[in-house]
Amino acid sequence: MAVDYDTLSKTILALTEGEDDIVALMATVVCELHHSDARFDWTGFYRVVGPELLKIGPYQGGHGCLKIPFSRGVCGAAARTGQAQLVADVEAFPDHIACASSTRSELVLPVWGPADQLIAVLDIDSDQPDAFTPEDQHQLTAILHQVFGG
Ligand code: SME
Repeated sequence: MAVDYDTLSKTILALTEGEDDIVALMATVVCELHHSDARFDWTGFYRVVGPELLKIGPYQGGHGCLKIPFSRGVCGAAARTGQAQLVADVEAFPDHIACASSTRSELVLPVWGPADQLIAVLDIDSDQPDAFTPEDQHQLTAILHQVFGG
C-alpha cells in the first residue's frame, strides 16, 4: 500500500490544528506516517537538544538509540548539513548507525521551526532496499513545514 500523500497531509493537519505542544505534534505525525505505508518500518524524530546533539523523540517501531551526535550516522549528517539524506543502501553509507539489523534503506529529513531553526530530524527506516524516492522527500518535507512551521 503506497501512501496517499494528499490524504495523509489533510489528516495530519486536521489532527494537529491549533496544537502547539511539540511532543503532541511529533507523536501525532509519526503515528500517522508510520501506519500510512508498509515501507516505513521505523518512523521517529530525533530532537536537537544541544549544539551538536540529537536525542530520541516520539517514534514508532522497535527501540531506537537514545542519542546521536551530529558527527555520526545518517541523522547526524542531516542535522550537520541541514540537507535531506535519501539513502538507498545503508550498508554503503559511512558510519550508518544500525538500530535494527533489518534496515536496508533510510530517509532522514531536517525539521525546521518557525524561526527557521533546526529543531529535529525525522528518520524513516525501511527493511526494503532503495525504498524511498525524491517524491517522498518532497511530500514529507512539505508536511513537516506545515506542521512545524519552518
Ligand atoms: N540509522 C540512524 C540511527 C537511528 S535508528 O535507525 C532509529 C542513523 O544512522 O543516524
